[in-house]
Amino acid sequence: MIPCLIVNYSGGQFHFISIQSPDDATDRKARRLARSHAVARGLEKKRKLQQESGHNFRAVVVSLKDDPSRPARERKRCQTLVASPPSLFADAPDGPDPFQSLAAESPRLQALHSQHKAQRAAEPAFSMLDELVLQNFRSVLRKRPDDDALLSAFMLTFAFAVTASSIATEYLRFQSEALSSIRQRMNSPDRATSESTLGAILLLADLNASVLTGSSRIVDHTTFSELQWRRDPFSPDFFILPPGFRAQSYLLGEEFVEVLKDISALQCIRDSTFFGREDVISMAHIDNHQASIQSRLVSLPNQSSISECCHLAAYLCSAMLRCKLWRASTIPSHLSLQLLCKLQQANNDLVWDDRPDLLAWLLHIGGAFAPTGPIRSEYVVLLHLNRSTRLRGLYTSWPELLAILKQFIWSEKAFMSQVKAFWEEKSLTMPPQSRLFKPLKIGDVEVQHRIGMAPLTRFRATDDRAPTPLMKEYYGQRAAVPGTMIITEGTFISASSCGGFANAPGLWREDQVAAWRTITDDVHSKGCFIFCQLFAMGRAANVETAEKEGFPIVAPSAIPIEEGAAVPQAMTIGEIRQTVGEFVEASKNAIRAGFDGVEIHGANGYLLDQFLQDVSNTRHDAYGGSVENRSRLLDDVLTAVTNAIGPQRVGLRLSPWSTFQGMRMADPIPQFTDVIAKARRSDIAYLHLVESRISGSDDYEGHEQLEFAYKLWDGPLLVAGGYTPQEARELVDVTYPDKEILVLFGRHFIANPDLVFRIRQGLDLHAYDRSTFYVAGSPAGYVDYAFSDEFLTEEREKSD
Ligand SMILES: Cc1cc2nc3c(=O)[nH]c(=O)nc-3n(C[C@H](O)[C@H](O)[C@H](O)COP(=O)(O)O)c2cc1C
Repeated sequence: MIPCLIVNYSGGQFHFISIQSPDDATDRKARRLARSHAVARGLEKKRKLQQESGHNFRAVVVSLKDDPSRPARERKRCQTLVASPPSLFADAPDGPDPFQSLAAESPRLQALHSQHKAQRAAEPAFSMLDELVLQNFRSVLRKRPDDDALLSAFMLTFAFAVTASSIATEYLRFQSEALSSIRQRMNSPDRATSESTLGAILLLADLNASVLTGSSRIVDHTTFSELQWRRDPFSPDFFILPPGFRAQSYLLGEEFVEVLKDISALQCIRDSTFFGREDVISMAHIDNHQASIQSRLVSLPNQSSISECCHLAAYLCSAMLRCKLWRASTIPSHLSLQLLCKLQQANNDLVWDDRPDLLAWLLHIGGAFAPTGPIRSEYVVLLHLNRSTRLRGLYTSWPELLAILKQFIWSEKAFMSQVKAFWEEKSLTMPPQSRLFKPLKIGDVEVQHRIGMAPLTRFRATDDRAPTPLMKEYYGQRAAVPGTMIITEGTFISASSCGGFANAPGLWREDQVAAWRTITDDVHSKGCFIFCQLFAMGRAANVETAEKEGFPIVAPSAIPIEEGAAVPQAMTIGEIRQTVGEFVEASKNAIRAGFDGVEIHGANGYLLDQFLQDVSNTRHDAYGGSVENRSRLLDDVLTAVTNAIGPQRVGLRLSPWSTFQGMRMADPIPQFTDVIAKARRSDIAYLHLVESRISGSDDYEGHEQLEFAYKLWDGPLLVAGGYTPQEARELVDVTYPDKEILVLFGRHFIANPDLVFRIRQGLDLHAYDRSTFYVAGSPAGYVDYAFSDEFLTEEREKSD
């Protein structure tokens, strides 16, 4: 039903007049009205532009001289019109207190207002509804509505909500103020069709008194006899039942199905290219079409929890399909609260088991249009609850979810950014019960949460590969939250294992041990844990560095890392044995340097990985030629190191699917199954896996699954590779609730020394700057990333 209607502002009365488009209109009066609306929109635009350009624009004189169809009396009146009173917010940048401007009488309003600051307290000072109302109030004020009609309408809603829907004095006062302000607007062509006036009308019309409280509406589409609703005969294709609802239509009832078709038409209009142009007719179509939809929705019988939830979500969608102003208004928030309550009540209803897609749509629509704060968090909790049960396997990525949402009511333009933001931001709101914040025993240490720092080469050691005070500062910063596990950057086991990575540290000399000791002491003094990642370059060595340091480039076989690169020397059995010995010595040094353990680096195409995979190992001796033989060097190292320092102090990093540095055998599963089985026998403290979506330190579109490796490992698992906080939470709570997983962050930890705190508190993450990842010796991009204000405040309070 497209009600082709526009508002007639003349005569100081509401009049709604049927019209299709300015050109279609046969009636002269209607054509004239259409034109004057276009003028009004133009003036509104001009006013906005002038305001934006900083002019102190206080009065509008409307000249309609050029419109000969306009009666002389009306032209004269228009010329003397003075537009809105000075904006409430004209002088004060933050706006005056609206409670003063519209002095609230209710003690309840006053009390809420006076405790306004308590909102910021850690513990909620108000009920969920109070909190919601104040949040909306603030968000509307942030938008600075300079229209007292809208403000009165909003205050009316506000008063209605905080007085528990009782018809109190201030309610009636705001109602009459709102109505009389709107009537005044009707005398003013430049304001009658302004977004704020239409907003105020719709706010009154859709105060949602009925939806929220069951009491009667102030205004609805039947209030004005001039209203005529009819479907646009030219666009029957618009009025379709979205496919997701088709399967449930028997549950929804005929009337609701008709409303859904109308919403689908509204959605088509909203997403069409002409929407949002300065076309007053289509805007009026939309306003009135929406009012029709909502009026009918309110009177539908609620037959079941599903239909109740769908009515609310449909109402919410129809509001959001209209103008942007609503996004800050109270209607969507109240509706999302209503929907939340219904969804919570019905969560145990078995009916959702058969309709997980509908549930996913309801939860995402409700959550996306809920204000930041408790309501939104409750949606997140509900989503997480369902993700491990009904929604499990339904979607894991945004494109998959989007495909589901599109089956129901969906608008690219009106919903996409909010719903996507909600999907992404779920990462930031960790329900307190998330396993991400539960302790985990790894070898001899017990981490206090499951967010760790991934190994990150940063080139800040000395030229002769000793750790520096700058490195101490860097690691100390990242030990900001007690109980955090840190894995150091790759650290060389011997002088001959380097051949690359100038200014990367080593652990074969006493001065290196001593310098590392200052770092481990500092990390421990902050209640954190630190393992040292040990490695050798193999064929990944850099020719110049290797030459400068006087060592040949060695590898399992004489296969260069890429075409044209230096051909490495195939290692002799003696060299292999020596390498095992160097791993042992470096591990013992690590323990002397105070590390909690060592991580054997068997990943990312370095020496041990080169031995594992047939792309780099074509030997025919005991260290090549078969799965078992290729695993041998790594197994030898693990056996020797665990014998030397104890298995509880040893971890192993693997990257079965990585293509970095010329790796990735055709089928890595048998090879890595063998290695993992051997690591299991060694009883090491943890297995550390790198996701396929990472190639070294770059993102990569890999979809190969580590599932096979997860299945092989029962102990603590460390996982890294492109994780967002939300994905980390999903991994530990939803995908693998039975596994003991620690999620490691690399790049985010570089840019957020207080990363764990930020994730826990749901704070924004600072973006990393790739250009400073590897600047030798530089503090820039290393120790100068800021801690969040919230973290600093908490630290200050702790020390006071
Ligand atoms: C600057 C930088 C240096 C890295 N150095 C190492 C390293 O020394 N050893 C290692 O195993 N992985 C290294 N990686 C890979 C990371 O440990 C991690 O697997 C990768 O960054 C993916 O995690 P993220 O998406 O959380 O950053 C490095 C990554 C980056 C960005």
